[in-house]
Amino acid sequence: MAKVKTSFFCQNCGTQYAKWLGQCKACNEWNTIVEEVIQKEEKRNWKQASAVKKTNKALKINDIVLDEEDRISTRNKELDRVLGGGLVKGSMTLLGGEPGIGKSTLLLQIALVIPKKVLYVSGEESQSQIKMRAERLQTKNTNCLILTETNTQHIFKVIEEVQPEVLVIDSIQTLHTEYIEASPGSISQIRETTAELIKFAKETATPVLLIGHITKDGNIAGPKILEHMVDVVLQFEGDRNHTYRILRANKNRFGSTAELGIYEMQNIGLREVENPSEILISQKEDDLSGTAIAATLEGMRPLMIEVQALVSTAVYGTPQRSATGYDLKRLNMLLAVLEKRAGFRLGAKDVFLNIAGGIKVDDPAIDLAVISAILSSNEDEAIPQDFCFAAEIGLAGEIRAINRIEQRILEAEKLGFNKIFVSKFNKISSKPYAIRIVQVAKVEDIYANLFA
Ligand code: TYD
Ligand code: MG
Repeated sequence: MAKVKTSFFCQNCGTQYAKWLGQCKACNEWNTIVEEVIQKEEKRNWKQASAVKKTNKALKINDIVLDEEDRISTRNKELDRVLGGGLVKGSMTLLGGEPGIGKSTLLLQIALVIPKKVLYVSGEESQSQIKMRAERLQTKNTNCLILTETNTQHIFKVIEEVQPEVLVIDSIQTLHTEYIEASPGSISQIRETTAELIKFAKETATPVLLIGHITKDGNIAGPKILEHMVDVVLQFEGDRNHTYRILRANKNRFGSTAELGIYEMQNIGLREVENPSEILISQKEDDLSGTAIAATLEGMRPLMIEVQALVSTAVYGTPQRSATGYDLKRLNMLLAVLEKRAGFRLGAKDVFLNIAGGIKVDDPAIDLAVISAILSSNEDEAIPQDFCFAAEIGLAGEIRAINRIEQRILEAEKLGFNKIFVSKFNKISSKPYAIRIVQVAKVEDIYANLFA
């Protein structure tokens, strides 16, 4: 019997060692090294039967011609936006997200609408389960082939037969290659199967979409190098109790990572949300204290987001602070600014902050809405529903200018807001706006404007 060969791998960076170590010498992480069964590496090719020897020629950059067809539209506007205009030929895209968030649904939906021959390989569900899901989605593509297989050599055999134009793999953690004995989902299997798929994608210019599981701390399961190997890393996120899902690019070799795709999970699949501002502002009849609307930008797209704050008297010694969808450190900073510059005694109060819709925002222009919501809750006085805010707050309590102010003003105007509060330091063109623009310089000014 052949001797079983094992080796040690760092789960963080993928470095291989002959023996176990407590700390990885390459990335200095502790306790990341695990033992895995491997076999001696052999020479191999994804296309074993007819292994072609092809060498790439070096070309002058001016001689490289870009093909119009280098991007394939997925017929899904939100995904196209996040990808930067569609799937790039020969690219590898990794889609990560929590279980049950809708990864399989999203990619099956794409497979059913994209006007290309798609091979959807699933290692997680049976063909009839996928068919049942497809029935729910009510879209038809007779060019979509479903394969249930986990062995990459078998998958490549089928690929040679059917010659797909797009390949979908659900999921990378279920795949295994015959050349390695480690179990599916292990570091060496993920690394090898991904490398085989990349080779296939680059040699045939076929875009490959991979689904990846994530660990409980939100990272894609497997070696970190997986994310380095692929061209695009997408993250599908959202609160499982909400129906809204957000698609973000964490890495994109062919586009910006600032763009955002928004979907709603319905019983007939994922609906693209084209006008997100409408859904992010909760519907209510009366004016309620503690809410303020921020005019933010995610990538190129304006988003009106509702900020909710609750300020109450602290019952325990140390006041509680909690923030959902907003950086807690930044909230503490804003509270300190309010305390110091405007004399609000928030030290004895609990402050809870929530961004409606389960969305996480990075745009600093949300700051002014955050402090307005806090002040409104503290005063127990509502801010009129047709007011909105767009400015950053500095440590000195100054209200700072933000980028692309006009785009935000136009969006607020379009959605029927009557007043927008912005920084005094933002230069605004004298174009006549229907919306009233109030320019403020200090935190005290906003208080005086809203509640005095
Ligand atoms: P799924 O795509 O299986 O998630 P993942 O692949 O990320 O694990 O999504 C499963 C959830 O989506 C499941 O809870 C049911 C729900 N769902 C709908 O609400 N509507 C639908 O049309 C479909 C297909 C699924
Ligand atoms: Mg799935």
